Amino acid sequence: MYKIEVPKEEIVKRIETNLMTDFVKISAEDDPTQFCIMPRKFVDQDLERVKNMEIYEDDIWVVTYPKCGTTWAMEMIWMINNNLDYETSMTVNLEDRFPFMELIGIATGFPTDTFEYCKNKPRPRYIKSHLPVFLLPDQLWTVKPKIIYVARNPKDTAVSWYHHHKHMHGYQGSKEDYIQAFVKDLMMYSPMNEHITEFWKIRNEPNILFLFFEDMKRNLDQEVKKTMIFLDKNYSQDEIDKLCKHLSFESIKDNKMVNKEVEIQKLMEASGRDPASKEFSFVRKGQVGGYKKELSAEENEMLDEYVNCSGLEKAEFEYKF
Ligand code: A3P
Repeated sequence: MYKIEVPKEEIVKRIETNLMTDFVKISAEDDPTQFCIMPRKFVDQDLERVKNMEIYEDDIWVVTYPKCGTTWAMEMIWMINNNLDYETSMTVNLEDRFPFMELIGIATGFPTDTFEYCKNKPRPRYIKSHLPVFLLPDQLWTVKPKIIYVARNPKDTAVSWYHHHKHMHGYQGSKEDYIQAFVKDLMMYSPMNEHITEFWKIRNEPNILFLFFEDMKRNLDQEVKKTMIFLDKNYSQDEIDKLCKHLSFESIKDNKMVNKEVEIQKLMEASGRDPASKEFSFVRKGQVGGYKKELSAEENEMLDEYVNCSGLEKAEFEYKF
């Protein structure tokens, strides 16, 4: 069903860390254009059990390529679907309310079996995954629970992923190596273009809502309303205004239940770094176009080529900037 290969490119070794290591390329045997770079640990322990996972129709899934606004969308969705329960949202970590299914399969030494945790959550289960369409559970496509997909432009995504890889996974290499690996589709969860276009193709299915980070940034009120309709909920304009405030960059940055402080500590411990050093805020810049201040001319050019790849045209998909 799958072909597993070790990528030959030397750069792959340069972007590995103690925490995220031993990258392999998983391809669908019947369609080699479908592939994904993942740590071998995921293949050994998670590939099959994720594929065969039992799905319930009242599940709520958020699926994204990493760094596309997953956490922000998760808090929005959880709040909308839980009758705007601020009390729980301000006291229970988002990672517990809306766990990351395959984290155990990608992070060496991570202490919790996140797959089992998701599987056994009381219903309705809220589940986050970064897996591409072809690696997600088979029953997602037959049981058809609600799935929200969030896309973001690759330039801001790559910069955000670089900072995440550096501070959360302990990456010590250069930004240039990192961007090269990203545009060559050799970074964990690569390729981004195919990740997005495979979901774009099924965006009109009634159980799928396709959102953009850039739309959330430019008109959160509108995206909240779209999500509300998708989840069959109805709130007054005052309630929506209050929710938008709760979801604003400033508020989320200060929100310990969303800003992943506990998770960052666990990851820092797992990678042998001092968890007391507050070197990184997960909610970092939150901008559209922030890449302009961070990429060199060469890095920007490499990403231009990536953004203009012809596969996107075939899927009639355009990134937002
Ligand atoms: P930056 O690193 O560009 O700042 P994910 O949750 O998929 O890992 O995405 C993280 C990105 O979403 C980070 O981007 C983070 O700052 C941004 N983000 C999170 N909450 C946000 C908010 N309320 N407003 C704008 N951006 C937000």
